[in-house]
Amino acid sequence: MTATIIDGKAFAARIREQVATEVARIKAAGVTPGLAVVLVGEDPASAVYVRNKGKQTVEVGMESFEHRLPADTSEADLLALIAQLNADPAVHGILCQLPLPDHIDADKVLAAIDPAKDVDGFHISNVGLLATGQKAMVPCTPLGCLMMLRDHHGSLSGMDAVVLGRSNIVGKPMAQLLLGDSCTVTIAHSRTRDLADVVRRADIVVAAVGRPQMVPGDWIKPGATVIDVGINRIDAGIKDDGTPRTRLVGDVDFDSCAAVAGAITPVPGGVGPMTIACLLANTLTACCRAHG
Ligand code: GUN
Repeated sequence: MTATIIDGKAFAARIREQVATEVARIKAAGVTPGLAVVLVGEDPASAVYVRNKGKQTVEVGMESFEHRLPADTSEADLLALIAQLNADPAVHGILCQLPLPDHIDADKVLAAIDPAKDVDGFHISNVGLLATGQKAMVPCTPLGCLMMLRDHHGSLSGMDAVVLGRSNIVGKPMAQLLLGDSCTVTIAHSRTRDLADVVRRADIVVAAVGRPQMVPGDWIKPGATVIDVGINRIDAGIKDDGTPRTRLVGDVDFDSCAAVAGAITPVPGGVGPMTIACLLANTLTACCRAHG
């Protein structure tokens, strides 16, 4: 069997088009949706994400506010900026890029963001709303994964889903969303026993562990759908000019998994573009709610 490739890049482009159409309509009524992104420090991967977010925000017609703060910014100064963004009527969404430097309490910062502007869905009140099946701001990466799964399968009801990874950003909210769609959900993690057997039972595998190519094809049930959240840069030999070559890979071993799975997301071009598209959709939702 050769898997269908789930094209997250094309799907994300369609979502951005829909968002842009809606943004144009709202702007004609006198409101421009605005997204503020806060980056503390110079983590290179975070800087790339923040640049992409800002670029795509502007491309759909929204206003982008970027706040790049030095790595030694105090927690008090960051909280003061969050308070200022909470109070700014031009800002409908606030995203504080994680991870934050060690001297800043990330939980405290996330709790300071107005839940109505929490386009990441990380505030405790949005986490609780999602867990209890109420209208919440839903974290962007799991939301993008769910949209691809629904698009591919239609109903997910009754399917066995295994989520690899238990992070607050992906694993836990992903499990909540799959449960909300009536899957039987297992969250597997570094202490899970007989991991290969657990994964082999799954109709849906969502891999979000941050370990390059960790899931081999012989863990995958024939015909299962594999959603690869990982974005890992690995060595890939030496270029002609003698400098090291790198490439991006996911948390699953693509070639061996694609030989067994029914459908699979590629890296790059799968989950990554969907995350930013969902961030824009969440910002639009926050703006629409703020303006009735
Ligand atoms: N760091 C890695 N992923 C994310 C995300 O989705 N949101 C934020 N704020 N930081 C991240």
